[in-house]
Amino acid sequence: MSSTVPVITVDGPSGAGKGTIAHRLADHLGWHLLDSGALYRVTAQACLIEGVAWDDEPAVAAIARVLDVTFASGANGEESVKYKGQEVSAAIRTEEGGRGASTVAALPSVRTALFERQRAMRKAPGLVADGRDMGTVVFADAELKIFLTASAQERAQRRHKQLIAKGESVSLARLLQDIQERDERDANRDVSPLLPAEDAIVIDSTATPIEEVFNRVWELVQERNLI
Ligand code: DC
Repeated sequence: MSSTVPVITVDGPSGAGKGTIAHRLADHLGWHLLDSGALYRVTAQACLIEGVAWDDEPAVAAIARVLDVTFASGANGEESVKYKGQEVSAAIRTEEGGRGASTVAALPSVRTALFERQRAMRKAPGLVADGRDMGTVVFADAELKIFLTASAQERAQRRHKQLIAKGESVSLARLLQDIQERDERDANRDVSPLLPAEDAIVIDSTATPIEEVFNRVWELVQERNLI
């Protein structure tokens, strides 16, 4: 597909800072933002609500095909995600929500069901797409592809800090194990595995503050004449 609407893809494992970078990019450019992980997270949450098991592929795909999801920014700038009008923002961001998303995301017919919905987000003036397969599959013709990574240990530590700040207590060892299991599932599935596109710029944020990562990405945006 050729399109004149530019796309920047930001892929990588969970906790690498993709969400922060993608949000800032979309803000700075005034472009649309696709948080594709949220679609998989809402699908997993919808399964819990509808009483469907995460590994029941035909039933999960049926849910994904007609997924009634809405995204909005709340008054405080927080993202509000609703399934059938019901607030699910907090539920989809839990560790269990992440496990569910990763489980349903490994089902080929679920990926197919969400494919067109993601492509339809490509609207003027541009789109920043955050996920795992944005640069390899969904927007393979993107103008700029970033693959953001960081060591599992560092990502677990960042997540631990976030949870502590929210007043939740989770062991670091458990978080690290969850992250490693999720990486393993996302990287080794048959369809659209987590992998940098051949033409992606890989940035390792393990020892780099997010500000610096953003500055590097912004330089690339300028180099490619996207502003
Ligand atoms: O980015 P995230 O942590 O919200 O994603 C949750 C899960 O969804 C992740 O473990 C893998 C899956 N996912 C995917 O398979 N493809 C995408 N484009 C985005 C997310």
